Amino acid sequence: MSLKFICPLCQSPLIPHAKTWTCDGSKNDKLTQHPFDVAKQGYVNLLPVQRKKSKTPGDSAHSIEARHRFLQAGHYEPLLDAIKELVADSANDLANNQPSAWLDVGCGDGYYTFGIVDALSTTHQTKVIAMDISKPAVIQLSKTAKQIGILWSQNDKHGIYPLVASASNLPLADNSVTGISSIFSPIIPAEFARVMRAGGRLVIAKPDVRHLASVREALFDTVRPHDSDKFLLELEPYFSLNQRVEVISELRLDGEAMADLLTMTPYAYRAKRERREALFRPAKAGKFETTAKFLLYELVKKAK
Ligand SMILES: C[S@@+](CC[C@H](N)C(=O)[O-])C[C@H]1O[C@@H](n2cnc3c(N)ncnc32)[C@H](O)[C@@H]1O
Ligand SMILES: [Zn+2]
Repeated sequence: MSLKFICPLCQSPLIPHAKTWTCDGSKNDKLTQHPFDVAKQGYVNLLPVQRKKSKTPGDSAHSIEARHRFLQAGHYEPLLDAIKELVADSANDLANNQPSAWLDVGCGDGYYTFGIVDALSTTHQTKVIAMDISKPAVIQLSKTAKQIGILWSQNDKHGIYPLVASASNLPLADNSVTGISSIFSPIIPAEFARVMRAGGRLVIAKPDVRHLASVREALFDTVRPHDSDKFLLELEPYFSLNQRVEVISELRLDGEAMADLLTMTPYAYRAKRERREALFRPAKAGKFETTAKFLLYELVKKAK
């Protein structure tokens, strides 16, 4: 099975090329071939302007930078390790020396995506599609991929394809990937099922109920728990649950880490200013402790 892209405008086969990806137009009445230029950083924008719900969809450059700094500081490394282990296990289960492809939906700056590439590097050949609706995220990821020489145009076997695209309109042919990950990102059950072959693996990361509890309790009088497992019901028609892993990371945050955490955490904006400021006092003294709690799920695509 090889990786096959489709045109986001007309769903015809889309052929990667060094400078421009072009669809063959076979699925539109006028046989128009749609071109998509490769940006200098190496990514391709496959988000049609007419499908954009806002001018700058997805996470902003500001929030991507905060997330990048926070993740690079290693606060969520236990989660990275757990994701790598799960992906490597999945790849082993699926290994049959056939070329395969893994899709990381809502990849952000690529912190986890590069871990996934690493975990898959022992396979015969697995390409990784890194996809996000946010252009600044994909630019950041492409720059890093290019620097370390693992862009699709630089590495034939384990190359990474950074794409600006939407999770609800994936530019991939039916049954064209063996694995999908969605790390704190959207989950679109029917669309994920369409592009994944039977037996393929879906890896999902979510915050657990008590994730960052002391931060949330400091910000709000009443804390609404995350309802972690609801999405499983929506996935049920297409995927069965294989395993669920709890991951815990003890954090000690300084002022900069606290600022980054609040910037990358959308609900923090709803807190009162003085409550937010109060969080910084212990953080500036390097004394703010909290616990990050995650749940990782591995699901298997059912045969139809
Ligand atoms: C919480 S961030 C997680 C990023 C990354 N996986 C990580 O954990 O560092 C969610 C990401 O999903 C992206 N996103 C939101 N809606 C999307 C959509 N419809 N399609 C693709 N990506 C989307 C955002 O731009 C953002 O980068
Ligand atoms: Zn087309």
